[in-house]
Amino acid sequence: MLPLIDKPLIQYAVEETRAAGIENIVFVSSPGKPMLNDYFRTNVWLENELSSKNKTDELRVIRDVSLSPKSFWITYQTEALGLGHAIWTAKEFVKDKPFAVLLPDDFIHSDRSAIGQMIEAHATIGGNMVATVDVGREAISAYGCLDVEARAGRCLSASGVVEKPAKEKAPSTHAVIGRYILQPSVLDRLSTIRPGAGGEIQLTDAIAADMVSNDLWGYEFEGTRYDCGSQAGYLEATVAVAIDHKELAPSLYRNLALKAGFGVAA
Ligand code: G1P
Repeated sequence: MLPLIDKPLIQYAVEETRAAGIENIVFVSSPGKPMLNDYFRTNVWLENELSSKNKTDELRVIRDVSLSPKSFWITYQTEALGLGHAIWTAKEFVKDKPFAVLLPDDFIHSDRSAIGQMIEAHATIGGNMVATVDVGREAISAYGCLDVEARAGRCLSASGVVEKPAKEKAPSTHAVIGRYILQPSVLDRLSTIRPGAGGEIQLTDAIAADMVSNDLWGYEFEGTRYDCGSQAGYLEATVAVAIDHKELAPSLYRNLALKAGFGVAA
């Protein structure tokens, strides 16, 4: 729920899915966090209040945020057993078609929905697909890492994926970023795999195990990814959004110019 300027990060992820035509969303949360449901459910009382006071702009904003009760669900991860376990808690909601996974702390600033770009590419090549960025050797051990075999445009064919490798042993510098299009069979793998890196059930391990049935692709999306799980990444994301914000950008530029010692015309 961390806000980026005027919306919580989770909402950017929801907007990314909507722009991609995804209709049903399962949020994975942890117990004792009622805010998520409060934020997305329709608040009839507030809508009536705003409408009786003719606050049409505010009404539009909250109507835009709320999701239909038939289109979103929340599952709870009661123990912190890892990302793979978190995704596994949504198993009952996934039928027999590929599904998308978004990690909202990986904020992707782009003109075109990143998950939408992946859905388009996936429609042609299938398999399991993960977003990827070349993060360099110094940073790679903080990520899942693809063993890249070949490239076709933005799609990288991978012969494996390993979670948080030591930098000397990393098969490449292509990191897994928090956007995935996965086959339902990955959820079956999650039921049987053993804890991996950090003693946690890792999504990358299930994707690697699923390679006996499905090809693995990395996808280099168009856009910039910011790691909002780090202070510097969160700050950079805030600035990136502010620069594009028609009301905030002028004051941001003015303040930066003043700080840099430039005169600013009124
Ligand atoms: C998770 C995944 C990792 C991926 C990363 C992207 O790691 O396990 O494979 O590279 O997200 O942000 P975490 O950041 O939870 O340690």
